[in-house]
Amino acid sequence: MAPTAIDVFARFYGLLESGETGAIAEKDVRPLTDVPHLADLDVPDEAAREALAVTAVIKLNGGLGTSMGMDRAKSLLRVRGEQTFLDVIAHQVLAARAATGARLPLVLMNSFRTREDTIEALAPHTELAVEGLPLDFLQNREPKLRADDLTPVDWPADPSLEWCPPGHGDLYTALYASGTLERLLDAGYRYASVSNSDNLGVSPDARIAGWFASTGAPFAAEVARRTPADRKGGHLVVRAADGRIVLRETAQTLPEDAEAAADIETHPFFNTNNLWLDLRALADELERTGGVLDLPLIRNDKTVDPTDSSSTPVVQIESAMGAAIEVFDGAVVLEVDRSRFLPVKTTNDLLVLRSDVYRSTADHRLEAVVDAPFVDLDPKHYKTIGKFDDRIPVAPSLAGASALRVQGDWTFGRDVVVTGDAALADPGTPSTLPDGARIGPDGIA
Ligand code: UTP
Repeated sequence: MAPTAIDVFARFYGLLESGETGAIAEKDVRPLTDVPHLADLDVPDEAAREALAVTAVIKLNGGLGTSMGMDRAKSLLRVRGEQTFLDVIAHQVLAARAATGARLPLVLMNSFRTREDTIEALAPHTELAVEGLPLDFLQNREPKLRADDLTPVDWPADPSLEWCPPGHGDLYTALYASGTLERLLDAGYRYASVSNSDNLGVSPDARIAGWFASTGAPFAAEVARRTPADRKGGHLVVRAADGRIVLRETAQTLPEDAEAAADIETHPFFNTNNLWLDLRALADELERTGGVLDLPLIRNDKTVDPTDSSSTPVVQIESAMGAAIEVFDGAVVLEVDRSRFLPVKTTNDLLVLRSDVYRSTADHRLEAVVDAPFVDLDPKHYKTIGKFDDRIPVAPSLAGASALRVQGDWTFGRDVVVTGDAALADPGTPSTLPDGARIGPDGIA
C-alpha cells in the first residue's frame, strides 16, 4: 500500500477518533449565487479545441453499487439494448476523438473489486488505449473498523469483506500515489474531465474544456439547479470566513439548520460530481501537502457483510471527491443542465435510462425525448439488480408516462406500454403482465 494512502487514512482516523462531525452551520455560510451557465458562455472554437487537445477523461469506477445489491461495478450493467455503461462510455470517447481530433485518453479509477471485470469488459474496444498511458489506475483500500472500538474488523468467513474502497475522495491520493498524475503530465495533458461512470450524461465537452482553461482556475465543479426532489440533498455554499465554495452534505447540516438547507431558492445548486482539474495545480497542491488533501471525513456506518444486517457493525472511513472544491484557492463553478446529470443510483433510475425516454444520438450521447417520468418500483421485488432483471427483462415504453408506481410482484412481458400517471396495485401473488400490455392510471388498460 502506498505510504501516502496510509497517511491519508491516519489523518481521517484521527478525525474519527476525535468525534469530528464536519458540521457546517448556516450562520457560517453565504448562499452561492452568480454562477455562469454553460449555455451563456462565449468560448471561441480555437480555445475549445486547444483545451480539449490536452484533456484526459477520468471515470470513477471503484464503487460497488451496493444500493442495488451489487458487489461489482455498476458500469458492467446493460443500459441501452445489449450495451453496458462501459460500452457507451467507450463509444462516446471514440466519437469525440473522431469529431474533434483530440487524443482524449480514457482513464478509469477502479478499486480492487472492479478492476478485473472492467478491463475484461473493455477488451473488445481495442482502439481505446492511448499509447504510453494506462487504461486505469487502482484506488486504495482500507480496513473496515469495528463500530464498538474502531479496530480493524475480523471476518474469517470472507476476509475480502474486511476491506473497502475509501469513497471517491480517494481520487486525488490514488492519482498521485499510482504515478498516473505524473504520467498524464509527462504525456502533455494539462486538464482532466472527471465524472462517475454511472453518469452517461457526461460525454467529452470542448466548450467546457475551453471555458475551464480560460478561467485559469485549479478546479471547477459542474453544478445543477436543485428541484423540490433535491431538497434533502447536499448543496454548495460559500464559507463566510474565507469566501471559499464548500460542499455541505446532508450529514453536515445541523438539525436547527435543516429548513434553511432545504430552501432551494436560497441554496439553488448541487454538485453533479462532474469536475474539471488542472493537473498541474493538483500536482503542486499534492506536493505541498505530502499527498494529503484536507478533505472532510464521511463516516459511513454499515455491517461488515453489507448483505447481512446482523453481521458485525462497522464504520467505513470515506471522503467525497467534490469536497475538494474547498481545498483549492480560486475554485470555480459552472451551471449545467440536468442533461449532464443522469446518475443511476437505483433500479428506478436504470429503468428510465433503459427505456424510450432516451434516445442515443449519432455521437452516442443520451438525449431525453420527453421529461423523465417518476418511477417507484416496489423495493421488496425490484430493489436489487437480480430481482429487477428477472421481473423486467425488457424495459416498457415510458415515453408517454408521467409516473409509474408498481406495488407487489409483477413480471413484465415484452412491448409493455405505460401511459399517464400509471400504477399497478399489489396483486397479492406473483403475476405477469402479458406482452403488449398497456398500463395507465387504472392499472392494466
Ligand atoms: P456512488 O455514490 O453511486 O457509489 O458512486 P457506488 O459505490 O457506485 O454505489 P453505492 O453507493 O454502493 O450503491 C458514485 C461514483 O463514484 C464511484 C462509483 O463507481 C460511481 O461511479 N466510486 C465510489 C469510486 O470510484 N470509488 C469509491 O470508493 C466509491
